[in-house]
Amino acid sequence: MIDIHSHILPGVDDGAQTIEESLLMGKAAVEDGIHTIVATPHHKNGSYENYKNDITIQVAELKRQFDSHGIDLEILPGQENRIHGEFIDGINNDEILALNHTRYVFVEFPSSQVPRYASQMLFDIQVEGFVPVIVHPERNKRILEDPDLLYNFVEKGAFAQVTAASLCGFFGKKIKKFSHQLIDANLVQLVANDAHNTKNRGFCLRQAYQEISKEHGSIVTNEFLNNAEYIISNEFLAAAPPERVKNNFFSKLFTR
Ligand SMILES: [Fe+2]
Repeated sequence: MIDIHSHILPGVDDGAQTIEESLLMGKAAVEDGIHTIVATPHHKNGSYENYKNDITIQVAELKRQFDSHGIDLEILPGQENRIHGEFIDGINNDEILALNHTRYVFVEFPSSQVPRYASQMLFDIQVEGFVPVIVHPERNKRILEDPDLLYNFVEKGAFAQVTAASLCGFFGKKIKKFSHQLIDANLVQLVANDAHNTKNRGFCLRQAYQEISKEHGSIVTNEFLNNAEYIISNEFLAAAPPERVKNNFFSKLFTR
């Protein structure tokens, strides 16, 4: 499997703090059935800044470490970008790093809100030739309240990535149920670990795919598996037309 979202680089954000932790995470990834992982440190989230050139160098160094410790794991460069007003400047200044230098860029919203300018920014990112991939929408408070927000973004060309741990139930029943509703409505097209360590934010991608298979069948599961491959090889994602999430007990309050 390919894991397109991880905080495996040592000492750059709230993920691995030391090279020893990065190596432990690398081993845990391999045990989870992952052969390729994308390192996506936080950028401009208010606490951490990790620029394109630095990440590229750090990924090459961690790859060397994996090789010298016999960890059979391909590692590719990426970045988890918090949405911010200067996002387009970041692209033009070569600060923003798309996943494995493809057209796909991660976009993260603050956990409790979706900025008013988000729709315009997602459009502007596409005008620049990139495709936004919204990370963990199932854990965003505003999207939980009003899933139509995500519908509007996906309908206009964005994709979205659900967290493996959400499907595995580690964020609670509510988030798990909502994650499956988003898959049902074709509002997410990708799943990834977003691992930060090997303890409380670790690896469960194999289990997440089993959950997808159980709830949504093998066709959807294969689409998700293939989409991770398409991301890193810069191909078009397979995506069914989005639908609005129905019968969500949060959205009932906000039905338009
Ligand atoms: Fe992340």
